[in-house]
Amino acid sequence: MGPDTGPGAPRKKIFVKTYGCQMNVYDSARMVDVMAPSGYTEVDTPEEADIVILNTCHIREKAAEKVYSELGRLRELKKEKSGRGENLLIGVAGCVAQAEGEEMRRRAPVVDLVLGPQTYHRLPEYVERLANGGPGIVETEFPADDKFASLPAPERRKTLARGATAFLTIQEGCDKFCTFCVVPYTRGSEFSRPVARILDEARALAEAGVREITLLGQNVNAYHGEDEKGRAATLGDLIRRLAAIDGIARLRYTTSHPRDMDEALIAAHAEVPELMPYLHLPVQSGSDRILAAMNRRHDAETYIRLVERIRAANPGIAMSSDFIVGFPGETEEDFEATLALIRAVGYAQAYSFKYSPRPGTPAATEEDQLPVEAKSERLQRLQALLGEQQIAFNSACAGRTMPVLFDRRGRGESQLVGRSPYLQSVHVGDAPENLFGKLVDVEIEEGYRNSLRGRLLRKEPVLA
Ligand code: SAH
Ligand code: SF4
Ligand code: F3S
Repeated sequence: MGPDTGPGAPRKKIFVKTYGCQMNVYDSARMVDVMAPSGYTEVDTPEEADIVILNTCHIREKAAEKVYSELGRLRELKKEKSGRGENLLIGVAGCVAQAEGEEMRRRAPVVDLVLGPQTYHRLPEYVERLANGGPGIVETEFPADDKFASLPAPERRKTLARGATAFLTIQEGCDKFCTFCVVPYTRGSEFSRPVARILDEARALAEAGVREITLLGQNVNAYHGEDEKGRAATLGDLIRRLAAIDGIARLRYTTSHPRDMDEALIAAHAEVPELMPYLHLPVQSGSDRILAAMNRRHDAETYIRLVERIRAANPGIAMSSDFIVGFPGETEEDFEATLALIRAVGYAQAYSFKYSPRPGTPAATEEDQLPVEAKSERLQRLQALLGEQQIAFNSACAGRTMPVLFDRRGRGESQLVGRSPYLQSVHVGDAPENLFGKLVDVEIEEGYRNSLRGRLLRKEPVLA
């Protein structure tokens, strides 16, 4: 420990900016947690901070570019601060850090620390070395030790008190190697946390007032963590154990791969009321030729049958997906097969992207890359169809009563915003403040493209 740590030492400040997926949101919160024992508190702007960490995403080109433009701004801030005799330490964490390593410091010498997603538990050690005048650090190994085991105990996690909903990472990495995707390279191979540790973390969350937990993993349904008897638990098993925890009213998980939807998990959708009737199950394309070129290891028919099985288990389930348009070699016919799959499934919500060649992935070096105009045109058509389905789904909610977990304050006076079972944002007026963080029955009055509006039936929670 340095001389200015410990009780009574001046508080130092850390600002973490998060890009990319929910796993990064979880990791950013954990970075703040690991720095707390060294006297750091989190602040909301880089101007106030002694350390700025950009927790980055490499999934598409634009995501990575944003990091370099932010670093340009931080270079100016660092100059200003040093003019005032203040120091600013700049770190880059996450998937761009992992993918670029040393190259990052060459391209942006203002960066003091480059830290891959598997090493952020060592942040305090690196910060201390840098504070003592040590040279810049690049750490992008996948160390053998378990990062999660080195994080502060659940009850020490500052982020616990943030509200009624929380993310909990249960699995990391991916062994699927879809030919467009950087994740297997930036996050490494699949790793599942042991059941006991996840249960501990979930209990601590519940005690802190969390009512809804979203289990996270790049490939979350490939979960195979060790249980207390040394056996591999499936995601279905884990969900049943988590649902039994007092206070946990809702469970979700994301993101899943169609290949890993096993019978036990499908059965959990039928039998575990805490498991919300909403499933994000990315398919990417509806063309068998493109699915094969993507190395998705399933065809369109198998996916559609799978959705039917899931709906047989839980008829009310709302489906969501990710789509990529303009994968190398995608013809108009392939694209129309994707539209056909969307019509066959019917989605409540979905994300869609133009294919973005990522360095080091097999698809990036394919010769038949599509021009950007073709990708844009297809994306527009795809989003028009998905938009229609989303509006239809949301409109059909009007007149229904559903439990809403209030987790945000709305813009208007006494307005609360919450999540429906189907992950829609529900805006409710004339809502007493004591319902914040609570599950409440709401009658839906109107459905819009991106949200619902409803009214309270009773001004008291379903579950205290
Ligand atoms: N593990 C998840 C999601 C990973 S990334 C899964 O298997 O589905 C989230 C989404 O980003 C992907 O589902 C995909 O639709 C999109 N994506 C990934 N790589 C991409 C690329 N190179 N170009 C465009 N979109 C991409
Ligand atoms: Fe990427 Fe495919 Fe793994 Fe998802 S399953 S993280 S898309 S390689
Ligand atoms: Fe992005 Fe890495 Fe997540 S590339 S989507 S931050 S796993």
